[in-house]
Amino acid sequence: MDDEVLRMRASIVEGIPAVLPAHPRDDDDVDHAPNRRQILSNEEKLLALENALRYIPIQHHRSLASEFLTELNTYGRIIMRRFRPIDHPMKAYPLDAYPAKSKQAASIMLMIQNNLDPDVAQFPHELITYGGNGSVFQNWAQYRLVMKYLSEMSDEQTLVMYSGHPLGLFPSHPDAPRVVVTNGMVIPNYSSQEDYERMNALGVSQYGQMTAGSYMYIGPQGIVHGTTITLLNAARLHLGLEDSADLSGVTFITSGLGGMSGAQAKAATIAGAACIIAETNRHAAEKRYEQGWLTTVTHSVDEAIDTMVSSAEKGEAISIGLVGNIVELWERCVEREIKVDLGSDQTSLHNPYQGGYFPADRTYGESATMLSENPDLFRKEVQLTLLRHAKAINTMSERGMYFWDYGNAFLLEASRVGADVVNDDGTFRYPSYVEDIMGPLCFDYGFGPYRWVCTSGDPKDLERTDQIAATVLREMLDDAPANVRQQIVDNLRWIKQAGKNNLVVGSQARILYADDVGRRKIALAMNKAIANGEISKPVVLGRDHHDVSGTDSPYRETANIRDGSMFTADMAIQNVIGDAFRGATWVSVHNGGGVGWGEVINGGFGMLLDGSAESERRLQSMLHWDVNNGVARRAWARNEGAVDAIQRAMDLEPRLQVTVPHMVDGDLLDELRGGLP
Ligand SMILES: NC(=O)c1ccc[n+]([C@@H]2O[C@H](COP(=O)([O-])OP(=O)(O)OC[C@H]3O[C@@H](n4cnc5c(N)ncnc54)[C@H](O)[C@@H]3O)[C@@H](O)[C@H]2O)c1
Repeated sequence: MDDEVLRMRASIVEGIPAVLPAHPRDDDDVDHAPNRRQILSNEEKLLALENALRYIPIQHHRSLASEFLTELNTYGRIIMRRFRPIDHPMKAYPLDAYPAKSKQAASIMLMIQNNLDPDVAQFPHELITYGGNGSVFQNWAQYRLVMKYLSEMSDEQTLVMYSGHPLGLFPSHPDAPRVVVTNGMVIPNYSSQEDYERMNALGVSQYGQMTAGSYMYIGPQGIVHGTTITLLNAARLHLGLEDSADLSGVTFITSGLGGMSGAQAKAATIAGAACIIAETNRHAAEKRYEQGWLTTVTHSVDEAIDTMVSSAEKGEAISIGLVGNIVELWERCVEREIKVDLGSDQTSLHNPYQGGYFPADRTYGESATMLSENPDLFRKEVQLTLLRHAKAINTMSERGMYFWDYGNAFLLEASRVGADVVNDDGTFRYPSYVEDIMGPLCFDYGFGPYRWVCTSGDPKDLERTDQIAATVLREMLDDAPANVRQQIVDNLRWIKQAGKNNLVVGSQARILYADDVGRRKIALAMNKAIANGEISKPVVLGRDHHDVSGTDSPYRETANIRDGSMFTADMAIQNVIGDAFRGATWVSVHNGGGVGWGEVINGGFGMLLDGSAESERRLQSMLHWDVNNGVARRAWARNEGAVDAIQRAMDLEPRLQVTVPHMVDGDLLDELRGGLP
């Protein structure tokens, strides 16, 4: 074993060091999260301090108390920076490198370290993976304790995680999940933004986003495939694009080059569009440029527009990163009467007043300072910017642009500040991408963002898994029903090109939209390939929570549920419970993620495939439920695609018996409507 691995192992088994480590000091090589506003009273600050010190042996309390208090007064919460390990690089190491009694536990360590890898995470030193506040843990003591527990646990134990805090190891059995994660679970009446900020500052709750606090983030690749699907289908539905055509000649403007939003740059060029992505944070834009996900970067609004227009005229795919505010770009497009075909937004508006969305006419630095020093002014400027933002979008749309809400709560927050984005009947003026595209075309049929990680860290294994998946999809095409054929064709095209598109950041991971049958066939084939040595080491399966069954979110994943149940969360909760007893290696369920605290409940799983018969049994049982739970619910909501899909699932599996809806004749309702007072 090389030195680096030995140091990593030593650090993990050490847990919280008995002797205080030297403070690593801030490192300017990585981006840091903006400081949060001060929300706690003096008494509450003492409570937060007491909460933090309970992780630390008593002999260090006096020396750490003032350090933690300074952190609280500076960052708005206690991060315990001193405990960030600096003796080894933070990254996914090969599975065998981890000190562990349980292979399953080792795979979770790998995924945790990947989520905190500086190449992968947005603010790695603040333990934030993406989305501005998507946390893996609240502080570095939690990280250290969790890694130590994972290194010690057996397959007869389960680690219980409360919002980043490891409650401990509890006896269980080999078929139980090794880790059960809950993030941000609260009593429903205590789920306001204010509640979150207070509880997080106290160190008792965290925002796990979707794949951050569930250790399933695989870098922006995780969203590239879905974004490509959205762009292609937006153009098919609204610009009359042929099924086999790409987006050459199509102009697209959006914003955000952060964790997820960075995917737009890559997806736009994969789809063939000419695209500008405005990003106010220079570091974020440069990171995407260095990764090769942006073709070019400019600070000039006019240069960005001119380049987009001329590239579209030549039919060239280009992704232009504009370091600047999206609102200033839209207003300039209005002024210059630029024709934009597709428009969207991926600023972090799920978190508008804590640094997710920056006011216009200010530099990023000015805004960040204002946020911590004058949060009231920051709030006001954000609201004014949002009003301008919506106004410019409205003008562009009136001139022919197709705009969609990209699951970032743009319409919700714009409506909250009084922008003209609401129709007379209370619905939003623009569709959410799920309502229009992802829901009816993908989720209703069970297609969603399936993913896997090769724990060897060997790109050859990833290449082999890509080939396996392509073979499975090709075979599925032979007898695919007409209403899912195009999706399988798109997904096959994606997986064939995925290697060439250099999408890997961090672990050797792949995303592929697939339905229940596809997911299980691919997993089964990979499990066999692990058993016969074609793939050198186990593979972790997972998915984004942003999926068919994992998420109840009325303005996003369940936006196309129209039977009045879009505000219920039974599906997401049932999903996690069902995954847990059908063989998941770990499960998680979160309040908040994507669209904001209190606005969504979402869950997911991780599953280690090690080539064994147990893996085969678990994948068959769990993946089937993990998809069909949501398809069944979507069918019950009378979504036509889902009704077809669940019938097909029942034909294939006689033990599946789903309650299907009897559709009411529209004429009968019209008749009754006429008689209503
Ligand atoms: N499209 C999807 O499928 C999908 C999936 C998950 C999440 N989302 C949502 O998209 C949003 C972005 O996610 P993320 O992970 O990229 O978040 P992020 O915070 O990492 O990135 C957002 C970026 O927007 C930039 N920004 C903020 N205000 C701006 C402004 N006015 N002008 C220009 N740039 C500005 C920020 O500097 C930041 O880099 C979130 O709300 C997230 O929930 C979308």
